[in-house]
Amino acid sequence: MTLKLSVIGCGYLGATHAACMSSLGFEVVGIDTDPEKVALLSSGVLPFYEPGLDTLLADEMKTGRLSFTTDFAAVADADVHFICVGTPQSKDGLAADLTYVKSSVAAIAPYLKDGSLVVGKSTVPVGTAEALRAQLAESAPQSDLAWNPEFLREGFAVEDTLTPNRLVVGVANDRAEDILKEVYQPVIALGTPWIRADLPTAELVKVAANSFLATKISFINAMAEVCEAAGGDVTVLAKAIGYDPRIGSRFLQAGIGFGGGCLPKDIRAFMARAQELGADQALEFLREIDNINLRARQRVIDVVRADLSEDLTQYKIAVLGATFKPDSDDVRDSPALDIAAQLQAAGAQVVVHDPKGIEPARKRFPNLDYAEKVVDAVKGADAILHLTEWKEYRELDPSVIGQLVKQKFLIDGRNALDRNLWRNAGWRVHALGRTD
Ligand code: UGA
Repeated sequence: MTLKLSVIGCGYLGATHAACMSSLGFEVVGIDTDPEKVALLSSGVLPFYEPGLDTLLADEMKTGRLSFTTDFAAVADADVHFICVGTPQSKDGLAADLTYVKSSVAAIAPYLKDGSLVVGKSTVPVGTAEALRAQLAESAPQSDLAWNPEFLREGFAVEDTLTPNRLVVGVANDRAEDILKEVYQPVIALGTPWIRADLPTAELVKVAANSFLATKISFINAMAEVCEAAGGDVTVLAKAIGYDPRIGSRFLQAGIGFGGGCLPKDIRAFMARAQELGADQALEFLREIDNINLRARQRVIDVVRADLSEDLTQYKIAVLGATFKPDSDDVRDSPALDIAAQLQAAGAQVVVHDPKGIEPARKRFPNLDYAEKVVDAVKGADAILHLTEWKEYRELDPSVIGQLVKQKFLIDGRNALDRNLWRNAGWRVHALGRTD
């Protein structure tokens, strides 16, 4: 008999997982405590922007296999329960806030049927899975718990779920592994590497991967700082070192650094957990990774000040991009919005444009000005800051934009625009990490 699945928490991770598992043929119920989100998902509408997921969700709703509810009792029918709730940074420190993980496991415990498997997908501090497993052994001894970290990238969520570059399962016994193999059979059949680990290793794989990615980005941004000081070009440097397959060219895009709901909070939570474990020295370098990352934002503000004036009160600045990366409407810990807010706090008149992120940005920064169209954002601007590399910004015509602004001054915070094109149209261009 085909397994029935439940997905607890229907944000980016959970909504994607639910729709993708349904597309593999499983009956799936998604549970979320937010009735608005559940109502939208139930009508086949995605509450956030993620390319390809909107149509997948709508298609899967039509099959009748996929449903959403706020009622935890709905898990009673399912055999495998994926925990996909958020683990944000705590309000009072670096550690991850585990409230939602703990409360969702407690909420489903009374309904778990014999032999069911709870599978954590949320990113958690190492040791959480073993503690939850012990908790379940008390409250629902008929069930078991495994950990199956998720590596999906926003913007590629469906692809990363259905054709991931590996599947990692942390299990305490063969039975849990067998159940997960049954769930992922179609994905395994594509040749996807399958890695069985113990519970702590599975939890660590996730934070280690995100720490490595963060380190790569901060490494290249540190090189960008040195390039600016020494008269070099970080984009050429990145290309040159990237040809060495041991280094690889991906995630070496210098600019204003990493943001989002994962990398920044994950490296901080990892440091906090290492400290609890007495291994803080091992992760001391992550503090520097965080510092380099935040410095990249400050460098943009320094360039604006150096070029325009220390006193920014008379200047209008157009910020292109609000989301933490393109093809997402996620503005959590967005470097672009952080820079925009800091410039506004320094007295500049700041207008922000983004193809998808204006509404979420407005919720977080209601005092910033927003423009629906690029042409409105740049009108009369003394500087344009390109801070999120949306495709539509690469398609802008610098001559047309040049007629709207007060000063033709561009800072490319993502090294993604064609500098020569802008320069040939009479613009002063500053690209981070490039001196010529
Ligand atoms: C990240 C990881 O890449 C996923 O593997 C992981 O599953 C996910 O976190 C998670 O923990 O859930 P995501 O947050 O979607 O995914 O974003 P990334 O594509 O990793 O980008 C993170 C940030 O780094 C963005 O702000 C991006 O602009 C920046 N970045 C990325 C750079 O500044 N330079 C680069 O070369 C690459």
